[in-house]
Amino acid sequence: MNSNNSILFELKNSFQKDIVKKTGLIELIEKHHSYLKDCIAVFTNNDATIEEKQSFLYQFLHILHMHSKAEEETLYQSFIESDVRLARLEATVGQDEHNIAYQLASELRDMDFLMSYSEEVEAKAKVLATIIETHLQEEENEMLPLINECLDELEQVELANDYLNKCEDYLHYEMLTPSQYSSYPYAPMVNR
Ligand SMILES: [Fe+2]
Ligand SMILES: [Fe+2]
Repeated sequence: MNSNNSILFELKNSFQKDIVKKTGLIELIEKHHSYLKDCIAVFTNNDATIEEKQSFLYQFLHILHMHSKAEEETLYQSFIESDVRLARLEATVGQDEHNIAYQLASELRDMDFLMSYSEEVEAKAKVLATIIETHLQEEENEMLPLINECLDELEQVELANDYLNKCEDYLHYEMLTPSQYSSYPYAPMVNR
């Protein structure tokens, strides 16, 4: 695989800067969405090479897992407990969409796309990309504006800290080398 995992390392290096800068929750989520969109733009591009598609799908799956789990455990959890019906609804819709994405991601890993980027892999990756693109759009248009409506400033700061800490943990966990954690399904082939 021709990859230096540049997006994964850029993301990993951004956490400390965001802690120092006290980046807000909305900005953090939008930033992590943009990493996902950057990966989608490559692995759905018909002009990209097979190696590029493999590399960017690989990085996408890591970022998707990190972002989705951290988002569920912070923002979604807070919205599910909200008095605002629309917030509860958006979080439930979001969780259902994450679950569909996890299923497709799991199927892609089982197809061993790093060994062979078959037409079936390419098709499934495109379906996942379409679902995630719609999901990110919905979150940005409908869910993120609810943050200022439902959460005060202190709650937003606390959630942003929790979200970032969880992202750090999830990405660190996922970037362990296979020898360090061989049974984990995301155990990656990362060049350090
Ligand atoms: Fe989400
Ligand atoms: Fe999101």
